[in-house]
Amino acid sequence: MFTFDREAYKKRVEWFQHDRFGMFIHWGIYAVPARGEWVRSQERISVEDYQPYFDEFNPTDYNPRQWARLAKEAGMKYAVLTAKHHDGFCLFDSKLTDYKATNTPAGRDLVREFLEAFRAEGLKVGLYYSVIDWHHPDFPHYGDRQHPERDNPAFKGVQHDFDRYLEYMHGQVRELCTNYGKLDIMWFDFSYDDMTGEKWRATELVRMIRGLQPDVIMDNRLEVSGSGFGSLLTQNPTEFCGDFVSPEQIIPPKGIFDEMGEPAVWEACITMNNNWGYHLTDKAFKPASLILHKLVECVSKGGNMLLNVGPDAHGCIPRESVEILLQIAAWMHKNGASIHGCGYAGIPKPENGRVTRKGNKLYYHIYEAAIGDIPLEGVRRDEVEKVRLLSTGAEVPISNSWMTQNYPETVFVTLGPSPILPDPVDTVLEVTLK
Ligand code: GLC
Repeated sequence: MFTFDREAYKKRVEWFQHDRFGMFIHWGIYAVPARGEWVRSQERISVEDYQPYFDEFNPTDYNPRQWARLAKEAGMKYAVLTAKHHDGFCLFDSKLTDYKATNTPAGRDLVREFLEAFRAEGLKVGLYYSVIDWHHPDFPHYGDRQHPERDNPAFKGVQHDFDRYLEYMHGQVRELCTNYGKLDIMWFDFSYDDMTGEKWRATELVRMIRGLQPDVIMDNRLEVSGSGFGSLLTQNPTEFCGDFVSPEQIIPPKGIFDEMGEPAVWEACITMNNNWGYHLTDKAFKPASLILHKLVECVSKGGNMLLNVGPDAHGCIPRESVEILLQIAAWMHKNGASIHGCGYAGIPKPENGRVTRKGNKLYYHIYEAAIGDIPLEGVRRDEVEKVRLLSTGAEVPISNSWMTQNYPETVFVTLGPSPILPDPVDTVLEVTLK
């Protein structure tokens, strides 16, 4: 009988809750058609018609050390690369299939190079692995919810040996957990309909993983997709509940709590445009300012953000994504202390921004300028030891002006005569409590 060890769990996720910000990397042969990672399913492309993309995949510009440096610059502390996505293409040198990067013109184990490069830059590393596989002959085709051949009559009645698929899938996860050194995250994707839990032989899979990688943390998608929480938040989690819930393309409005009312461990995975995989014409990139505000929102609600990049067929992160990451880097250089190691502040969200907390330090993220002195809601004046502008360390005086005397329950500070905030995106005031 499985008993969820909450103490061991808290210890396992400690680094994850400290690091707060990671890079998601969706890459594979779908970068060649350049219409996103679901192109096979959306356009019902047969294995044969998808093969040319395999045959020409040759990312000559692939330089994962550059990717790692960019992630590190942006204040990202971990990164997760797709080792195999739903199309079944393996970026690693699996002995269980020929459908892998080492058999393309790339001729390289792209996963091994990613892991070595990101570890060398001091980042923790994770691998995304899709339990869905549209290439494997024994994965259900006709009548499946999203298989490219789901409504192709030619596949009606075709028998699939799903157990043989599970042997393959478990075997590949064993390869990843055995042959590539210490992994910090295994990021599974995704369960749906009756394809969930023990359908994947999830208990056996998780026991194998935890045996090979005892410190690894996993997401919750052996049970659910990005829309569900799964049993992690219940009083009796299953053995394959995972270690964090994975809201997708959304910031939970009120954070996430378990059934006992305790804050949950969660990570919002977000794209910069509207595609995970490279998409030539999707130019709907979110401004860096929006992404930064959403990162602060995640942390203020006790969560992480996994921000995605989709490299192109040459192995380059799109220019728009690089520019966004460099803008994020500029802010993180000066204000990263208000993100890393921070979480719930335990005070209501102020009108003019958000608050994150680390021990006896409150970080007021001021988005909106004030008329006159700036209000710091939720803290009493006799609690405050000092206030500093985080980006420069400059002292920020507590105001004694006559205008504020009618509001003794609010601490007011002054940033000088200019009504313009020092940082137009997010001016962070570090309040040290006595
Ligand atoms: C969804 C998409 C998948 C993507 C994942 C990222 O599951 O189907 O393509 O990898 O979200 O969370």
